[in-house]
Order: sequence, then C-alpha cells, then structure tokens
Amino acid sequence: MGVQADIYPADALGCAVEEDGSLSCALSGYDFCVYLDKDKYAARMLEKLGMRLFNSARAVEDCDDKMQTFIRLADMGIPMPKTLPAPLCYDPQMPVKEDILRGVERELGYPVIIKSAYGSLGAGVFMASDGVQLKAAAERLKCSPHLFQRYVAESCGRDVRVIVVGGRVVAAMERRSRGDFRSNIELGGVGRPFTPDEGLSKLCVRAADGLGLDYCGADVLFGREGYLLCEVNSNAFFGGIERVTGINVAREYALYMYKTIYGGMPDAV
Ligand SMILES: Nc1ncnc2c1ncn2[C@@H]1O[C@H](COP(=O)(O)OP(=O)(O)O)[C@@H](O)[C@H]1O
Ligand SMILES: [Mg+2]
Repeated sequence: MGVQADIYPADALGCAVEEDGSLSCALSGYDFCVYLDKDKYAARMLEKLGMRLFNSARAVEDCDDKMQTFIRLADMGIPMPKTLPAPLCYDPQMPVKEDILRGVERELGYPVIIKSAYGSLGAGVFMASDGVQLKAAAERLKCSPHLFQRYVAESCGRDVRVIVVGGRVVAAMERRSRGDFRSNIELGGVGRPFTPDEGLSKLCVRAADGLGLDYCGADVLFGREGYLLCEVNSNAFFGGIERVTGINVAREYALYMYKTIYGGMPDAV
C-alpha cells in the first residue's frame, strides 16, 4: 500500500522515564504503530509520546485481563456468562476460604469454569465438576488473578470466533472440538466458515466499540437463550481464520489503518 514499515521487538523500542522526569524513546518520525505486543508499559509510553497505536494501550490492557474485559463491558447490553471475580490471596500458605468456594457453588452450580484472568490459547481455562475439583483449581490459581464462570453446557466444545476491524465484522468461523470443552484450535478444535446473523454481528461490534478496539477477535458461546460473549482478544492471531475462510484479514486491517491515518484509500489498491 506504499507505506514503509519497520519491525521492532518491544524490547528494542528504547523507551525510558528519565531522571529529569521526561519520557524518551529511540523511535521517532513514524505516523503510527501496529502494536502486536501486549507489553503495557511500552504501549503507554509510545502513546504518551504521541504515537497512534493500533490497538490502543488501554484496549489491549482491558482485553488482556478477562475479568477487566467483563467489567468494562457490563451495562452495555452485551450478554455474558455469569462471572465472579476471585478474591486474590497474598499468602501461598493460606488455604482458599471455604466460604468463597461455597459461594461459587451456590451462584454458579456444577460443572463450573475457572479461568486465569491472563490465560490464552485455552491454557488457563479449567472445568470443575464437584467441590473437590473446584477447591483444587482454586488452590492452584489463588495467588494470580482469576475468575469463576457459569459453564455454558450447550456450547460444549463449540464457539464462534469473530474478527472485527474498525467496527465491522470481516470474518467468522465456528470452532468445534471433539475431545475437549474448549474449542481453541491450539487444543484440537477445528474451524469452519460461519456466517454471523445480525444479532451476533451487533454483539461483537458493540463489544469492540465498548473496549475501543480497532481490531479484535471475539469468542462467542452458544447459550440456550442466545449468544454469550466469552472473551475479546485484542491480539487475535489471524493466520488460522484466513486459512479457514479465505478472507485476507491482514489486508482488511491494513486498509482500515491506512484510511484512519491518511484519509482515503491507498493508490496501490
Ligand atoms: N463459560 C464457558 N462455558 C463453556 N465453555 C467455555 C466457557 N468459557 C470458555 N469456554 C471454552 O473454552 C475456550 C477458551 O476460553 P477463553 O475464555 O476463550 O480463553 P482463551 O483466552 O484461553 O481462549 C472457549 O473458546 C470455549 O470453547
Ligand atoms: Mg479464546
């Protein structure tokens, strides 16, 4: 598209807070930055120095933490599975309070989902079928941010990944797993093209707007009463969904960034 791009790892940006209290950065002269990292410090510093980031530092931070995402999106008319934040524990020797576990049991029933707030690729998502499993999972996660969530049984091993670019749905795929309640491709889920109806599109666009995202991949569960937002990925990989749908997601994102920064369409398109 006629835009020269340089690629830097986040640790090569040379951002620092100096002794005189000013901010410094080795980079300058760029119109914008396609920020593919989740490093919140570098993102905040680049923005403070005037760089336009795709996505913004705040949006990446809010998506990185699944509980924070839900809190931010609450009261925006977006259905989500009932979710309880887990109180943090600062002493690894201290057992998780029985009251907390009984509360989860009472509010969410079994099976119940326990998630690390910062997990990805399905690795931090667990299911507990009874009090013994709930206690074991809560003990494992007690010193890092995590949450408890209603298990959406109708969606077992199945969800939809929807890519939103600039407030528009550009691609979607259904993911199904045979051997796991988690449908992540990395855990054996298989994707196939999916045509979102208006309700699903609206839900995903509303979530992306609510979080201030230029680009995202929303995971949506099939609830008994309708769709339920599962999580929003600010840094969603697009290689898999491009292969499944044949849609050039990267190009859609690049075009959107071009239009946002320079106004019209690039000559080279
Ligand atoms: N509350 C839930 N009920 C049923 N399945 C769930 C629930 N939460 C997550 N899953 C399944 O687990 C997968 C991974 O969960 P997700 O929250 O998207 O975490 P990750 O960031 O690891 O992808 C989802 O794609 C979905 O298939
Ligand atoms: Mg996910």
